[in-house]
Amino acid sequence: MRLRNVRGAKEKIESSKYIVLNYQELKGNFKSLFNNDNPIHIEIGMGKGHFIVENAKRYPNINFIGIEKFDSVIVRAIEKIEAENIPNLRLIRMDATTINEVFEKEIDTVYLNFSDPWPKVRHAHRRLSSKKFLQRYDTIFKGNKHIIMKTDNRHLFEFSVQEFTDYGYKIDKLCLDVYNEGIENNIPTEYEMKFSSKGFPIYMIEISKI
Ligand SMILES: C[S@@+](CC[C@H](N)C(=O)[O-])C[C@H]1O[C@@H](n2cnc3c(N)ncnc32)[C@H](O)[C@@H]1O
Repeated sequence: MRLRNVRGAKEKIESSKYIVLNYQELKGNFKSLFNNDNPIHIEIGMGKGHFIVENAKRYPNINFIGIEKFDSVIVRAIEKIEAENIPNLRLIRMDATTINEVFEKEIDTVYLNFSDPWPKVRHAHRRLSSKKFLQRYDTIFKGNKHIIMKTDNRHLFEFSVQEFTDYGYKIDKLCLDVYNEGIENNIPTEYEMKFSSKGFPIYMIEISKI
């Protein structure tokens, strides 16, 4: 998702109370943002933020950090929530290729929602569920590694299931049609609302590794 340039995006990002600008100084100490020891969940590629904002409101005892690489996208999330008070939510504008340099042993759950599919084989290492990224995630988890992924893209889903299991993750839940198999308490993303309303099945997998 790359929106056209949004006027004033940079200024809005820099002045938002939700944005963490000094994230490179917080490695191993992200809990200081929230002043508590609650679990930290991150969504990588949060887009305009519906999923992470709704999660943060529903689960006040979990801290949420949304990660998005484009100013023009993250600014849309800021515009939606700036007037609200959601103390357990922060956003970071960064490319997740350096995620292992940002967090260390402090994340409980990673959400990958409707990640870019990068359909060409030569770009497979850019997929957020590729082995390359799984290696990067290894050092960010506090203990048990826990990832939840949703997508409408069958090819990306099959690729991801293979990568996850090859990398030693255990499948805790796998669903080939979130809307017809009655997944409880599902919070949709923007992309999910769009594709499910057109009748496309939404795939979901939850995995963990000790
Ligand atoms: C297809 S959109 C999905 C957005 C949202 N998760 C949803 O489901 O509605 C994928 C998003 O991931 C972001 N993204 C892709 N690769 C990324 C990376 N390496 N680091 C951070 N964000 C990334 C894109 O900019 C885009 O906004």
